[in-house]
Amino acid sequence: MSTVGKPLAHESALLHVSGSARYIDDLPELSGTLHAAFGMADCAHAQILKMDLEPVRHAAGVVSVLTAQDIPSSNNCGPVLQDEPILTQKLVQFYGQPLFLVLAESHDAARRAAKLAKIEYEPLPAILTVKEAVANESWVLPPIEIKRGDAVAALAKAPHCLTGKVQLGGQEHFYLETQIAYAMPREDGLHIHSSTQHPTEMQQMIAHMLGWGAHQVSVECRRMGGAFGGKESQSAQVACAAALGTWKTGHPVKLRLDRDDDMQITGKRHDFDIDWEVGFDDQGCILGLATTLASRCGFSADLSGPVNDRAAFHLDNCYYLDAVAIRSLRGKTNTVSNTAFRGFGGPQGMFAIEYIIDDIARYLNLDPLTVRQRNFYASPGSAQRTTTHYGMEVEDNVAPELVHQLATECEYIQRRQAISEFNQRSPLIKRGIALTPVKFGISFTASFYNQAGAIVHVYADGTVLVTHGGTEMGQGLYTKIRQIVAHEFGLAPEFVRLTSTDTSRVPNTSATAASSGTDLNGKAAQAAAQAVRHRLATLFATQHGVNIDDVRFKDGMLHAGSVSQEFGEVTLAAYRERIKLWESGFYATPKINYDKNTMQGRPFFYFAYGAACSEVELDTLTGESRVLRVDILHDAGKSINPALDIGQIEGGFVQGMGWLTCEELVWHQDKHRFGQLATHAPSTYKIPAVSDCPAIFNVKLFSNANVEDSIHRSKAVGEPPFMLAFSVFFALRDAASSAAGRPAPLQAPATPEALLRAIGGLEVGG
Ligand code: MTE
Ligand code: MOS
Repeated sequence: MSTVGKPLAHESALLHVSGSARYIDDLPELSGTLHAAFGMADCAHAQILKMDLEPVRHAAGVVSVLTAQDIPSSNNCGPVLQDEPILTQKLVQFYGQPLFLVLAESHDAARRAAKLAKIEYEPLPAILTVKEAVANESWVLPPIEIKRGDAVAALAKAPHCLTGKVQLGGQEHFYLETQIAYAMPREDGLHIHSSTQHPTEMQQMIAHMLGWGAHQVSVECRRMGGAFGGKESQSAQVACAAALGTWKTGHPVKLRLDRDDDMQITGKRHDFDIDWEVGFDDQGCILGLATTLASRCGFSADLSGPVNDRAAFHLDNCYYLDAVAIRSLRGKTNTVSNTAFRGFGGPQGMFAIEYIIDDIARYLNLDPLTVRQRNFYASPGSAQRTTTHYGMEVEDNVAPELVHQLATECEYIQRRQAISEFNQRSPLIKRGIALTPVKFGISFTASFYNQAGAIVHVYADGTVLVTHGGTEMGQGLYTKIRQIVAHEFGLAPEFVRLTSTDTSRVPNTSATAASSGTDLNGKAAQAAAQAVRHRLATLFATQHGVNIDDVRFKDGMLHAGSVSQEFGEVTLAAYRERIKLWESGFYATPKINYDKNTMQGRPFFYFAYGAACSEVELDTLTGESRVLRVDILHDAGKSINPALDIGQIEGGFVQGMGWLTCEELVWHQDKHRFGQLATHAPSTYKIPAVSDCPAIFNVKLFSNANVEDSIHRSKAVGEPPFMLAFSVFFALRDAASSAAGRPAPLQAPATPEALLRAIGGLEVGG
């Protein structure tokens, strides 16, 4: 039986649970290994007048201290613009910015010594918030606007108009494995183990830093202990620093960030200030919309361009917006450089339209779900309402039927009625419910990233080793690739092994991001496997005198009519016949094209859909809330592995729920620590725990083969479920509005403080 479509366990599940999966810090250390730590700035914005590193150099266990002056070529780890120093030299741009690198005999010795530097600063005025950035027109990249029709005219004509604004918080990735790199010298180059989603970019960045060719640097990653976008570009500073240490000293160098340092040094999800003016009819159908999405990008561009682009693309979510003008402002602030995070700006844009629709429904006294449904894109084949504001046809819209199915199955209408009766009886505890949809575009908006390579080795004994350009961060990419290759050869999955991702095996790879890991690398691996399979089939057909078209690969055998032979026997025979038993494969996503200047075209190959219904309970005295029940119906296309896909849906949902409810980033405002991240440890930054998971959590896959020719007609599933968590936020807003007796101006995250503020019963500081 085929392995594709089976709910197989993650290929490393046993290693994970037994503690024997090797992460970089678990690798056996080479003798002479030095441990590195960054010396960090302790102000938000300043000129450096003097750096006295003598006390650091003389500290116990210290072998060497490196500064920007030790970098032979390019002092940059910015992925798009060259605006992010590996070690800053004259200017501090955020509190915690790395200034120098200590190399010592132990991790502790390096960290202790790093605190001993004496630095003199000339303070400069610092901008911390989106609001200040907008007021000062402080941008990392120029503002952009996407428009369709005449929003101003549509607003003027609309029967109803509302204005509104909302603040939407950022989010720390909180991968369990912090940023780490382990560099080792080779006689004519460097090899670096890096916990990164983007080995090729690490390779390029290190080569540029040293003034070398890419062929002198190899970067390897077997697995990450979580990444969530936080290791797409942000792994570079750590990888470069470790490589610099090795290049300078000739020793292997390991740099592992302590949690507090990691949280202060690395970028996070962009927080947004969103405002809008929307015009609509009596039915709640949107006629015109003008909105501004202003984000905190931090001190450098990093991936803020494409992140904010995706926010603007995804502002429509499932809804047809006829006359629309979206302004996107990319605020430059003296904070960490914000970066990719699951959804890559999409969640922020989609949150805006969900808030707007919730407002419209509350204003018209309609059920928010009804207003959502009235604004949906039309079904494929309709003459109207099928084109996005960026000019792409929505050819695979299943939101209407998916939402209908979920609403029926979870008894949305009956439960809304029951909740409203409950709330009438219950003065202090209020319940709320919301059902929200997701439509998420799959592909990198930078079209050239949509390519991948793989190599399939079939050994003479019939076992298979696969490597590809994608990285494993827990999402199950390696497992799915294993299933795809095993399927081509008709083998049980045990016969196929995945080996670590390494730039010296597959070159010029894209980041494993935009949820496209399996789409891209799966197709590349399939192509490679099919090439070898064809040769095996040819040999088998010739040797047994059967027609090649009749050859089947099944249950570890080759079959044709009445003849059968073990796969391993055929591979051995092929080897003896001097037939090539390995192959590379390549894939480039078809159909996509998009003009960066006009922001029009088809940036996405297809869309993934989903919907969630959440019911919550709010204590109006304390602001505490609980999620009572969640029902999810999600479109993973024809699932390659339903167990992994459901895991991604559950995990994405809970991570999204954390973003919108309990995870809050706070920066110090007092003079001494102005601009320091106050929430730089789990003691002050609360991610959702097991006890926060919904008591009732029903997750189902929506049966829906991809209309596009994706790998086995599956759909990407890494990011889209994150946005299912909107249902929790809007259920909380529903409960808060019940308590307040008016639309509650709830900000995100909906912490107890925010909920109390929205109800308006209590003034809460902070
Ligand atoms: N799942 C786990 N367990 N750990 C992760 O770090 N990252 C998410 C998602 N799911 C992540 C995860 C993000 S941001 C992306 S883009 C995708 O996985 C990347 O992997 P894929 O393209 O193979 O889905
Ligand atoms: Mo995911 S934010 O695209 O790494």
